[in-house]
Amino acid sequence: MDCPNANQFDALAPEIGRVLISRKEIRARLEALAAEIIRDYAGRQELIVLAVLTGSLLFVADLIRRLPLRMRLEMVRASSYPGKATRAGALRLDLPDSLNLSGRDVLILDDILDSGQTLAALRDWVRSQAPSNVRTCVLLNKSRPDLPDRMSADYWGFEIGPEFVVGYGLDYGDLYRNLPDVCLLNPRVRGERPS
Ligand code: IMP
Ligand code: MG
Repeated sequence: MDCPNANQFDALAPEIGRVLISRKEIRARLEALAAEIIRDYAGRQELIVLAVLTGSLLFVADLIRRLPLRMRLEMVRASSYPGKATRAGALRLDLPDSLNLSGRDVLILDDILDSGQTLAALRDWVRSQAPSNVRTCVLLNKSRPDLPDRMSADYWGFEIGPEFVVGYGLDYGDLYRNLPDVCLLNPRVRGERPS
């Protein structure tokens, strides 16, 4: 689908910094990521994709269309940044009750790996359900040299620096998810001085 250019999001322009990863780069990377996943899951009977809402919505929609595998799509809601906080707050996971993961191949898809709190908690919960196999995949792998023991994802789209990003599903205060590119947020929006 063709989207408006980032500079056509006029109402948001003062709040958005530069484009960090363009929609074109995302598209190209998703092709390669999908090829990797297809290769790894070839011959498996059925995959359960567990999407972490809300941030992974666009990523999941674009990635699974590139995966010609037999799969079911399930969703779990996670929120670790209540309101406008940009440091991980208390993690909240809303897990489906009726989900049977026993003996299944589970692929967890999330928008970004930051502290790893969300993905580690979810992966541990999935492991407690006796799946055959569980892997994790994120669009963005944020660099956190301050957390040397952070979990790593099995698959990721892009490695980024420690900066806060929005767009392509990622939010700040629940805004900016509809931007077609991954963008830096204008630091003034977060009450910081521009560096
Ligand atoms: P973690 O639990 O610290 O790894 O954080 C994961 C969650 O925090 C993600 O699923 C996002 O919703 C949110 N998050 C972390 N970094 C960013 C960012 O740069 N922009 C927007 N959301 C972020
Ligand atoms: Mg979020």
